[in-house]
Amino acid sequence: MASITIRNLDETTKQALRERAAHNGHSMEEEARLLLGQAELASEPIEVATSPTPANLSSTNFDASLDGKRILLIISGGIAAYKSLDLIRRLRERGAEVRVIMTEAAQAFITPLSVGALTGDTVFTELLDRNTEHDVGHIRLSREADLIVIAPATANLMAKMAGGLANDLASTTLLATNKPVLIAPAMNPKMWNHPATRRNHRTLLSDGIGFIGPNAGEMAESGEAGFGRMAEPMEIVGAIQAMIGEIEGPKPLSGMRAIVTSGPTHEPIDPVRYIANRSSGKQGHAIAGALAKAGAEVILISGPVNISDPKGCEIIKVQTAREMQKMVETALPADIGVFVAAVADWRTVKSADEKLKKKDGKGPSSLKLTENPDILKGIGHHKLRPKLVVGFAAETEQIEKYGKAKLKRKNADWIVANDVSPETGVMGGDDNSVKLISKEGVETWPKLTKQQVAERLVERMVAFFDVETIEI
Ligand code: C5P
Repeated sequence: MASITIRNLDETTKQALRERAAHNGHSMEEEARLLLGQAELASEPIEVATSPTPANLSSTNFDASLDGKRILLIISGGIAAYKSLDLIRRLRERGAEVRVIMTEAAQAFITPLSVGALTGDTVFTELLDRNTEHDVGHIRLSREADLIVIAPATANLMAKMAGGLANDLASTTLLATNKPVLIAPAMNPKMWNHPATRRNHRTLLSDGIGFIGPNAGEMAESGEAGFGRMAEPMEIVGAIQAMIGEIEGPKPLSGMRAIVTSGPTHEPIDPVRYIANRSSGKQGHAIAGALAKAGAEVILISGPVNISDPKGCEIIKVQTAREMQKMVETALPADIGVFVAAVADWRTVKSADEKLKKKDGKGPSSLKLTENPDILKGIGHHKLRPKLVVGFAAETEQIEKYGKAKLKRKNADWIVANDVSPETGVMGGDDNSVKLISKEGVETWPKLTKQQVAERLVERMVAFFDVETIEI
């Protein structure tokens, strides 16, 4: 790819580009390329891709209390480690309890003694420490926290996390945790922009890890500047407050149980071939995650997908429609059932035990197919039918008509109908344009990301159960 040179950018525009690039985890050149590409494609306004960074610093109240909040701070090696001392002080001023793990490299920059003096607690450094393993250990360290913060986070620690490595106390604790994690990276700009770090950053973002920074500026190394400076302690405090606020946000569906199906199913033809479709699972997984965030207990029954599991859900992985049906029925009773999976309509009557052979020159084998069970229809008419049953209707034509027919036939409360003709890019893509069909009528939603569709749908569910409660 040819490189691009943009001349005569004024300082303000340059700075804005720099900030956008850092926010999206791109180099300035990548960001400029993206903007140019979007400008060419879009007649609509350009949208800044937002990462799941928790910090909305402009709306953060820095004085908000962190009273009794348990922060596990992991300090890895880097000159920015000295700023972590200030971070500890500021967190404690706001009432947080701070426990610290230091990597070996971190101890070359600051000492456990000075850290311990600020936290008033033991500083943990060893994975296999006879004294602490009996008593605290990495599992307890990872669980007895409301939030884990890594500041500074080196490229090495990010790489270990992205690869799932666990060879010291910090990385083992991070692999063992079920708590939210916030990373404040600090490294040389060349390391931050290296393709390997870009890849790891993307992986961690898609694993649901929060990021604050890095900021642009001068590096400790003389003559080096760019993105790589650790965010300032107060910025990290702001991000922590925003993330804690999110964890403790309203849970309107708490006490409710939801079953969600997602992804395609694979119906075997022989040991190596199967019938499938292009469903990515993105919409179903987003709905499961949004339900969990709203406090519901979520059982996600997913066919084979290549995306990461949404947070806070129990995940059951299946291959075929019949396995999916069995798992859905086992998961009953539930208050909510959302059937997003693109279940294969047919399977072979019997899958071959050995790989089917080509019949040289005699044309292809024919497959004898039989219909798969309709899971949604079965649940819509089940004696343990959830109070709210939602189906999806992926159509390539006459969306509304087929959606309405499905609502009736499957005894669903809502059908979310969408156009999956190839030109829409919905199948496997990140966006969706849907119609919400219910007995009350049809609503056409604007084009939204699958994440936004999930959030809107969950808002509707909250409203549905609010009304139900009032009627009782
Ligand atoms: O009949 P159709 O496949 O178009 O219906 C789509 C809806 O029905 C989706 O909600 C899908 O999850 C569900 N479905 C199902 N079991 C099937 C086929 C579809 O649950 N065998």
